[in-house]
Amino acid sequence: MEVIINKVKKSKISSVDFKNLGFCKYYSDHMFIAEYEEGEWKNFKITPFQDLKLSPACATLHYGQTIFEGLKAYKNNKDEILIFRAKKNAERFNKSAQRMCMPELPENIFTNSINELLRVDKNWVPKQDNSSLYIRPLMFAKDPYIGIRPADKYIYLIICGLAGGYYSEPVNVKIEEKFTRAIAGGVGYAKTAANYAAALYPAVKSQSEGYHQLIWTDGKKHEYVEESGTMNLFFVIDGKLLTPPLGDTVLDGVTRDSIISLCKNLNIDLEVRKISVEEIILSIKNGQLTEAFGAGTAATIAPIKMIGYDSKKYKISYGKNSISQKILSKLNKIKYGIDEDIFNWIHKIK
Ligand code: COI
Repeated sequence: MEVIINKVKKSKISSVDFKNLGFCKYYSDHMFIAEYEEGEWKNFKITPFQDLKLSPACATLHYGQTIFEGLKAYKNNKDEILIFRAKKNAERFNKSAQRMCMPELPENIFTNSINELLRVDKNWVPKQDNSSLYIRPLMFAKDPYIGIRPADKYIYLIICGLAGGYYSEPVNVKIEEKFTRAIAGGVGYAKTAANYAAALYPAVKSQSEGYHQLIWTDGKKHEYVEESGTMNLFFVIDGKLLTPPLGDTVLDGVTRDSIISLCKNLNIDLEVRKISVEEIILSIKNGQLTEAFGAGTAATIAPIKMIGYDSKKYKISYGKNSISQKILSKLNKIKYGIDEDIFNWIHKIK
């Protein structure tokens, strides 16, 4: 893959307040861009991070044919750059592409484009604790076309933003009883903009009631919990870690998958099964539910401190000796290259 590189004259990095990173408040100096035309990916470039020039008739702006990914780069104590589970993200990107009638991106282009960009923007991978460089690959339809059909031309881009915590505190989540994020046969499992746009209205309503996020339930009867929009869900009931199964309404989260793999290693009893709203509320009331948390690339592991349902608010305990903190600590040790990468999740940028 030949990449044309056009670097910035002066890096913006000196303007970053590293004590106050937030989440993607600062984008790195460069971006990666490629085009899909006549059935092939071509014109691979690294350019300064800049605005795009698009036709006002660009199909994405009208019909939303767009997908994205999220993964992170970390720095170890030898200043080497480590990327976490790019292969899994590449697979998911292509599952999303298939569902949205978009061309697939070969895994080697996905991985090499990240490697090339990170080589140029290596200084942007922070070294301090609990921080990383969030990598956002995306693909969208480019055709200037008003009408409904899959586009012929696409753009693949990668931008990177500095990441501290996505949530600055344990979260309050409300079990959604009316609105629906995804239905069977829909696009819930695809990382496509529509899922996030459709979730805004109910999420904003819940924020005015003091919640950070929703717990989405099945679209038929709102009986079973599914995911939390920015995260997959985990509950500890009777000492066992539970998470809902995947399916076409739930995003196949990379952090969720990593936690499932880690449970054996950490001697945590885990079950993947349907979890009803009734079971959650009953287990909170009788003290069997001792922990709840969300898991996602941006959010990492976010403890849940309150669950709202049927106009009531239930406090959930969280803290240092929790299962979520045990998992987070192990996961971080692998991501930052402190513990052995027993699952072969990391690749180094050479
Ligand atoms: C991610 O976790 O990578 C996401 O795309 C979620 C988004 C809220 C940043």
